[in-house]
Amino acid sequence: MQSFWDERYASQKYIYGEEPNPQLKYFIDRNTPGKILFPGEGEGRNAVYAAMQNWKVVAIDQSNIAKIKAEALATKHGVKIDYTVGDIITNSYPTRSFDAIALSFFHLPPQVRNKVHTYLASLLKPGGILFIVGFSKQQINYNSGGPSNIDMLYSTKLLLEEFNDFQIVTNQQFESHLNEGDGHDGLASLIEFEAVKK
Ligand SMILES: C[S@@+](CC[C@H](N)C(=O)[O-])C[C@H]1O[C@@H](n2cnc3c(N)ncnc32)[C@H](O)[C@@H]1O
Repeated sequence: MQSFWDERYASQKYIYGEEPNPQLKYFIDRNTPGKILFPGEGEGRNAVYAAMQNWKVVAIDQSNIAKIKAEALATKHGVKIDYTVGDIITNSYPTRSFDAIALSFFHLPPQVRNKVHTYLASLLKPGGILFIVGFSKQQINYNSGGPSNIDMLYSTKLLLEEFNDFQIVTNQQFESHLNEGDGHDGLASLIEFEAVKK
């Protein structure tokens, strides 16, 4: 999978654009800055925006090329991000160390998703917020981006089950017209999920 993403990121262009995802931008804007983790952060559009709003940003992605592009974007905007190249499945951050964790179009195979979600929950401080924006299972009927394996897509039911011990703030499916680089372009079916660790 790492070579798949390195190849996708190989061009000079930012495949998902340089601007943050709109739902994630609104999440960053309305919350008090703290320490935030971006797993599967790719080329850095969300992490850099959060750093520009004074969040202390930690990011991880398995693609080395993504890291180079994310750091270039950070430099362009005069901010610093702590970006590791690695696999979220095998890495280890200290438990209860983040005020927020934000997943933006981070779609995992079902065999590892539950394990990763449990791990991410352990990294949040009590009162910390988990934010997810990604494609719903309906996205299989659209051609505006995302994995072609329906099992990697989200549903509100799945997220409720996986984070059943969280206090749910938002869990909704909706249609949106994506304009996020060449990678996310056109009408899409999205899920937005926000929940607080008790
Ligand atoms: C669709 S891209 C989304 C990038 C970014 N979050 C955004 O919204 O622009 C998914 C990213 O997840 C990364 N990824 C997938 N599985 C991963 C894993 N197990 N550990 C770390 N990164 C992973 C890929 O390398 C890729 O950069």
